[in-house]
Amino acid sequence: MEFRHTMPRNNLIFGKGVLAQIGEEAKKIGTTALIVTGKTSMKKLGFLDKVRKTLENSGVNTLHYGGAVPNPTTNVIDEGAAREDLRHKYDLVIGLGGGSSIDTAKAIAILAGHPETESIWNFTSLSEKPRSITAKTLPIIAINSTSGTGSHVNHYFVLTNPATSEKPGVASEYIFPRASFVDIEILSKMPPELTAMTGFDALTHALEGLVSRQSNPISELYGLRAVELIFQYLPVAYKEPDNQKARECVALADTYAGWSDQLVGCVVPHALGHAVGGHYPEVAHGEVLAAVTPAVMRFNIENGNELIWKKYCLAAQRMERAISSPYTKKKAVASVEMIEELLQNIELDISLKQLGVLEEMLSELARNAIRTVGECVDLNPVKADYEDLINLLKKSM
Ligand code: NZQ
Ligand code: MN
Repeated sequence: MEFRHTMPRNNLIFGKGVLAQIGEEAKKIGTTALIVTGKTSMKKLGFLDKVRKTLENSGVNTLHYGGAVPNPTTNVIDEGAAREDLRHKYDLVIGLGGGSSIDTAKAIAILAGHPETESIWNFTSLSEKPRSITAKTLPIIAINSTSGTGSHVNHYFVLTNPATSEKPGVASEYIFPRASFVDIEILSKMPPELTAMTGFDALTHALEGLVSRQSNPISELYGLRAVELIFQYLPVAYKEPDNQKARECVALADTYAGWSDQLVGCVVPHALGHAVGGHYPEVAHGEVLAAVTPAVMRFNIENGNELIWKKYCLAAQRMERAISSPYTKKKAVASVEMIEELLQNIELDISLKQLGVLEEMLSELARNAIRTVGECVDLNPVKADYEDLINLLKKSM
């Protein structure tokens, strides 16, 4: 066995009501914070006000950009960074919201530190002249309002270019949040549908990391525990939004799965998820993953070897299926059956067709996946080529 384990310095503040500590943490890092949120939820639920007041009481000035949208676009990010009334006026960026707001905050922190660059797209490898993200990036604090993306504890942001329908992920050590807040009070406000979609996203980070070619004994610990917690508590959080224990456990799973993603990445479901997301930005990330994950797991099991079957069997054990060695192909299928049952329980058993994906788009989607998220295709435990991706998309229709 040979592997490398590198983990950025984590500063995770987890629990009910921890938001009250935002001022203390922020004042260690900056003097004026730009708070980035989506258009509605954090304002309506009163958390934006709460964050502003707590910061101001600690002597940290605040500015607000409320333009983040689900599946953030280059335009929204560029606009947030370029706005005359905000430009050059802050030294810290706080993302308050789901993955979309945290990712927008990360992207604005990059642009604010590199004002000579006009568009965030220039920092992606798909740009004609890709630019590097440097230490000039402003520091970031993440306050997570969903339990799904792991963005609060990883070094990625994901953006969509509406002009090219490309949705790549970008990684940089400079966007790893300096502090990550997970406050159960905010998470308890998620409506059931959002709980289901985001919780399933976290589950896929765990499952995909488990079988990733880069998987290692440490990422496996995080992945298996996340699978266990999601299976036990996501259906509870879905049915009882105020169940604190369930919210805590799903939030922990999101954090573990985020670390797994940080360490070993994701595989084919995420490659397809980003391709579909690029073309259909109105579809939530978790919904696409729900549509494609069972087919990809079956493909990996059918064409896999003993090690892959063992990984899926270990996952199935955490889903409370009594499975013992030898870990065979047949036993590994139990993991997919359990996923399908979970999807029914949280009313997320959905097909690409139901999400509005058109048959004639499948070849473009397969090409898009290879072009924009090729690393997730390469990390899949079983080699998947263009034809395989088309077949997987067809099976998910
Ligand atoms: O936009 P607002 O008004 O804030 O409302 C949001 C949004 O409409 C709402 N919401 C969020 N928290 C809430 C809430 N409503 C009530 N109560 C709360 N506590 O929910 C809607 C969806 O929010 P969004 O942030 O889009 O959801 P999510 O957390 O699933 O983030 C998805 C984005 O993250 C990317 C996805 O591709 C997508 O762009 N990802 C980021 C990753 C990363 N940075 O590592 C990895 C993931 O695989 C993923 O790709
Ligand atoms: Mn994801």
